[in-house]
Amino acid sequence: MTTGYRYARRAEVLGESVYDHAPGAIVLSSGLAYPPFLPDVVREAMEAARDRPAETLQYGPLMGLDDLRDEIAAFVAADGVICNRENVLVVYGAKSALDLACRVFTEPGDCIVVTRPTYMTALQIMRCHGVSFLDVGQDEEGLDTGELEARLLRLQRNGERMPKLLFDVPDFHNPTGITTSAARRRRLVELAESHGFVILEDDPYRRLRFEGEPVPPIKSFDRNGVVIALGTVSKILAPGLRVGWAIGPKEVVDRMAMQKADGGSNPFAQRMVAELMRSNKMAKHIGDLSVEMRGHRDAMVDAFREFLPEARVRAPQGGYFLWAALPEGTDAEALAGLALTHGVEVSSGRLCFPNDLPGHHLRLAYSFVGVEAIREGVRRLGDAWKEYGARA
Ligand SMILES: Cc1ncc(COP(=O)(O)O)c(C=O)c1O
Repeated sequence: MTTGYRYARRAEVLGESVYDHAPGAIVLSSGLAYPPFLPDVVREAMEAARDRPAETLQYGPLMGLDDLRDEIAAFVAADGVICNRENVLVVYGAKSALDLACRVFTEPGDCIVVTRPTYMTALQIMRCHGVSFLDVGQDEEGLDTGELEARLLRLQRNGERMPKLLFDVPDFHNPTGITTSAARRRRLVELAESHGFVILEDDPYRRLRFEGEPVPPIKSFDRNGVVIALGTVSKILAPGLRVGWAIGPKEVVDRMAMQKADGGSNPFAQRMVAELMRSNKMAKHIGDLSVEMRGHRDAMVDAFREFLPEARVRAPQGGYFLWAALPEGTDAEALAGLALTHGVEVSSGRLCFPNDLPGHHLRLAYSFVGVEAIREGVRRLGDAWKEYGARA
């Protein structure tokens, strides 16, 4: 049957997959791992298969392997998040944790607070749950808690539906690269307590800090179980492992586990990750990767100065992404299309906005290609910009 399927609304538009890249183009569009830095996991994979087939090739425990849950609890303890095994749910990645949290907390029509802009894939996941968004601006300190509070009070006064969840990426935000200040993090927890919503703290980039002092996780300020911390090894080891976690009150993570559609979330990969964490191989990898990514970040910021000085870019202190604001009125979607004809793939920032659609931002990732290709890619983008200007 080629026609006549009665699709759900969310599946009506068949967009291009972010993994289907244009042949020959330099990919600066998505936060893929840098191939030369994919970790060597041969020993861990071999041992998982040879020594523990009854564990790794069987359906795993719904909550995840206990050894991995303990390793994750120890990993986050270094950031001041005090929890134990029963608070840790192992999942297929942070995106899966977000989906499970939406299943547990939302009904269609419920409202979720997000930053404006926010992580585009998170929006897509949340939209599948039929929710609406309360979008709040950001400044150099992160989500604007003053604006959030004013809007919460207005909703309350008008007797409107209050948000159930808040989703944020406090460290090296995707897409803006901003890191939320400690004061704002504390304030978010206070607002969650006083207005009865739960914070989903999505923090995949925290350990990839190039400079400056780390800020304590939002979860570390949480005394009353209003924060669920989402983590993943996708950005600090390898996204193909599909191992992530959610940390929260036992009654919440237990409920999230019951919503899983996957049984025990790949115990084979979990065993490998537990060993990589236990042996400190992961810690060493993170150190090496941070040095490499810092070089990538510098190459991209320098290339913007040289080839596209009209764009406003802020050098993030860590993470994978650069957010470029072009002069107001620029159609970033058209520019991204033109860039492809010049042999470079970048993302228009439009998809990062939940409600309105400002069109003059680009999101670029410096994670996937090396410094030479980053420079060449931004040079091509600069050529596309010149052509765009000439056409306009
Ligand atoms: C903010 C954020 N959360 C989560 C993810 C992906 O998480 P995972 O691969 O663990 O599902 C990404 C990847 O780009 C991201 O930027």
